[in-house]
Amino acid sequence: MQDKLNLMIPGPTPVPENVLSSMSKHPIGHRSGEFQAIVKKTSEQLKWLHQTHSDVLTITGSGTAAMEAGIINTLSKGDKVLCGDNGKFGERWVKVAQAYGLNVKVIKGDWGQPLDPNEFKKILEEDRNKEIKAVILTHSETSTGVINDLQTITQYVQNHGKAITIADCVTSLGACNIPMDKWGIDVIASGSQKGYMIPPGLSFVAMGPRAWEANAHSDLPKFYLDLKQYLKTVNKDSNPFTPAVNLYFALEASLTMMQKEGLNNIFKRHIRHKNATQAGIKGMGLELFAAENHGSPAITAVMPKKY
Ligand SMILES: Cc1ncc(COP(=O)(O)O)c(C=O)c1O
Repeated sequence: MQDKLNLMIPGPTPVPENVLSSMSKHPIGHRSGEFQAIVKKTSEQLKWLHQTHSDVLTITGSGTAAMEAGIINTLSKGDKVLCGDNGKFGERWVKVAQAYGLNVKVIKGDWGQPLDPNEFKKILEEDRNKEIKAVILTHSETSTGVINDLQTITQYVQNHGKAITIADCVTSLGACNIPMDKWGIDVIASGSQKGYMIPPGLSFVAMGPRAWEANAHSDLPKFYLDLKQYLKTVNKDSNPFTPAVNLYFALEASLTMMQKEGLNNIFKRHIRHKNATQAGIKGMGLELFAAENHGSPAITAVMPKKY
């Protein structure tokens, strides 16, 4: 990618120069026609990126705000949920769900290993009274570099018929193929500082039709992260609150760049880079943290050398 600083951390990721320069101007009024045009354009671009017909709502806040919004807008106090936890961000899901008084059953995976889809399948099939309201998991677990099988787990959730899938795609969106509508994912949370290639500060929640159905019964407290407010205003090309205006300039610039490259080329580039990185790491005699064939195209974690 053009002119990027080679910042080799999991995020914030490097920001292309043209995206950086798109931000270096005065903020404009967030209720102006000029800004509305940007909201309108980026809303369509976000649907393209998520491969969905549903609205993708933009929050001024970090990725965790989008995760929390996904939970509090679809669930109610005491709801039973399954939470995948095979790393630091799986742990975060558990903490957010518990903070809101959900009845959390944790499905653990060893660090460096993917979550086992069959564990989800078994518990969902045994839930004959349909008490499980959501399956919550991290797609690309940044802390270990493991990619979880979101497609298969989402399929099991669909077979259950009542639960929804809430996925943290903070690291994977914009790097990996996540066809939201085709796979039937109900909620996707993501953040600006990873695959979007813009600085931290915006996060995104895509809510499918089943997520909105769940929203109608959700009684968890919400105000700033009440997604109904965001839906109402996005339909008027606006925001409920004062958004990070200059980050919207960056969002428009980066999504336009991504559209020029095309989704398939973006995904292929990340797989190519993952393969090259993994080969280089192994060539240096270092060990990968993620189990063989379960490394994420978005992030490669390296096991520190033992002395
Ligand atoms: C997989 C994953 N989920 C959630 C987050 C949390 O995002 P934030 O730090 O933007 O709140 C991160 C950030 O690194 C992440 O990598």
